[in-house]
Amino acid sequence: MVAPQSRTMKTLWPLLFFLAEAHGHAALRPNFVLLMADDLGIGDPGCYGNKTLRTPNIDALADAGAKLTQHLAASPLCTPSRAAFMTGRYPVRSGMASQSRVGVFIFSASSGGLPASETTFATLLRNQGYSTALIGKWHLGLHCDNSSDFCHHPLSHGFEYFHGLPLTNLRDCKAGAGSVFSSAVRLLALVPLQVTAVALATLAALGRLGLLRVPRPVFACLLLLAAAGLGALLGFLHFFRPLNCFLMTNREVTQQPLSYDNLTQRLTADAARFIRRNADAPFLLVVSYLQVHTALFSSKDFAGKSRHGAYGDAVEEMDWSVGQIMRVLQDVGVANNTLVYFTSDQGAHVEEVSATGEIHGGSNGIYKGGKGNSWEGGIRVPGLLRWPGVIPAGLQIGEPTSNMDVFPTVVKLAGSPLPDDRIIDGRDLMPLLRGTSPRSEHEFLFHYCNFYLSAVRWAPRNSTSVWKAFFFTPKFSPPGANGCFPTQVCLCYGRFVTRHDPPLLFDLSKDPRERTPVTPTSEPRFQEIVATMERAAERHVQTVRDVPDQFSLGNILWKPWLQTCCPSSSGLSCQCDREKQDTQESR
Ligand SMILES: *[C@@H]1O[C@H](CO)[C@@H](O)[C@H](O)[C@H]1NC(C)=O
Ligand SMILES: *[C@@H]1O[C@H](CO)[C@@H](O)[C@H](O)[C@H]1NC(C)=O
Ligand SMILES: *[C@@H]1O[C@H](CO)[C@@H](O)[C@H](O)[C@H]1NC(C)=O
Ligand SMILES: *[C@@H]1O[C@H](CO)[C@@H](O)[C@H](O)[C@H]1NC(C)=O
Ligand SMILES: *[C@@H]1O[C@H](CO)[C@@H](O)[C@H](O)[C@H]1NC(C)=O
Repeated sequence: MVAPQSRTMKTLWPLLFFLAEAHGHAALRPNFVLLMADDLGIGDPGCYGNKTLRTPNIDALADAGAKLTQHLAASPLCTPSRAAFMTGRYPVRSGMASQSRVGVFIFSASSGGLPASETTFATLLRNQGYSTALIGKWHLGLHCDNSSDFCHHPLSHGFEYFHGLPLTNLRDCKAGAGSVFSSAVRLLALVPLQVTAVALATLAALGRLGLLRVPRPVFACLLLLAAAGLGALLGFLHFFRPLNCFLMTNREVTQQPLSYDNLTQRLTADAARFIRRNADAPFLLVVSYLQVHTALFSSKDFAGKSRHGAYGDAVEEMDWSVGQIMRVLQDVGVANNTLVYFTSDQGAHVEEVSATGEIHGGSNGIYKGGKGNSWEGGIRVPGLLRWPGVIPAGLQIGEPTSNMDVFPTVVKLAGSPLPDDRIIDGRDLMPLLRGTSPRSEHEFLFHYCNFYLSAVRWAPRNSTSVWKAFFFTPKFSPPGANGCFPTQVCLCYGRFVTRHDPPLLFDLSKDPRERTPVTPTSEPRFQEIVATMERAAERHVQTVRDVPDQFSLGNILWKPWLQTCCPSSSGLSCQCDREKQDTQESR
């Protein structure tokens, strides 16, 4: 009796040991679910103080984990902020910061995008054996030279599975939701058209009165020019939707143009299926919500239910989706071994007001400005991290942190070394989250408005002050407004900004609303503080290399030969629907 038993023990011990090892290992290599909202303001979630917008599922992340109260987007605009998030680097380092007016990609068929030389956390995690997926919005480019190279596609940047929108959600993607181009179209097309029309009418009138003889060919040419302009304008508006608003599954177009019907349900069910498929292996799931960028949308169950119109409905449906994903993590038993992160790519878009005057932008709480500028409202975003047993529940961290910090945090936890051939600007969040370090590693953070360095933040090690020095601030218009209403986003250079020399200085620890600049009279150490911050900015600028500009004119224009179009459709109609209408997760 004794011998066989001990033999069993002998064979069992290594197994038990192995299981314990595997368990310990698993704790070091958690799954990652990274949730990113679009244009959600820090004043929107309940856990950041909103009392009228219902976000119980997002709030539950804060209750069960850590809430960051000085979490900063590396840029106040979608494309650069997401580039920084994916790479852990300031967007200027990858050429993903615009030097012109256009700060995000607006055509699916333009050649700019996250360069192949950049390394995303998805690539490093995949190399560590993680299953990796991106569901939702990408907005970091698609093709380079031809419509089959997929050089900037998520599958070329470490994601093994992609289902979503390669470009971005826009008003123009939804029938009847208006156009983001209305101001640009007015400027670039309607004004020249009106001028030509007036010129034509004047010439015709003068000709009729016999005061001027306009040669017929000249008249015809002008007429032709006006017709061509009008045709191009109408063509642009008509074809924009199918050519830019489509869903893909991996490299295949599955719905063109995209339909908003049950869209949140479809993407959420797909996220749930991915989690179930990978319950036994480490996985990385990035859910990049289309909400709450315009066009706002919500399904039947949410439409008209919030107290904040279409915007509130969209937030509440997104919150529902967060809850569904958390439920699946619980269901398959991985919730305790999964680090969940929730954030927004930048602050709320305060200039978003619909044609009928409904407010379509969110709330930045007490903070000034919003999307597109470096006031706190543009860059201070929600930041929640949940990992039961590792991150204490209810933890609140007021230290400066960045969305670039996710890169080193996730990469190290997955057991991968950080790339050593480039500067990584993000810092590991785990010492703060575990409580082993009280201070953020970010003594300085740099705030960019597209390509241009607009402000520096300094959290001195030996003080509780958080200094922010602006080199320039946007000129809000109309004056006194909290944004740039004529252009929809504030621009970052030239006559659109006010330069400050010496820099405009605030102590955010005392004045988080950035209302009263610190002056040499109110702060005796003014010169010393500003000098320290200017030196830090100079040192930082010296580390930024010249790289190809992904926002050059050639890289942002529409290139017909890069256009992605459903194979089954004919010509420019580009229509198909092969989306699974399945909104239930199949098991
Ligand atoms: C598209 O570009 C890729 C990479 O540059 C090349 O390998 C491929 O042959 C090209 N395809 C076509 C159809 O030109
Ligand atoms: C949306 O999903 C529900 C439930 O799955 C279904 O009953 C409904 O028909 C779907 N609506 C559309 C427009 O597909
Ligand atoms: C809550 O969010 C709504 C929608 O963004 C906003 O209108 C409202 O002002 C917010 N409330 C607070 C207290 O920030
Ligand atoms: C998950 O972790 C929490 C907190 O450490 C613990 O109370 C709970 O029992 C754990 N659940 C499971 C299923 O292990
Ligand atoms: C903090 O340290 C700096 C030098 O590193 C010094 O100039 C400054 O006076 C110190 N501030 C305080 C409040 O002690």
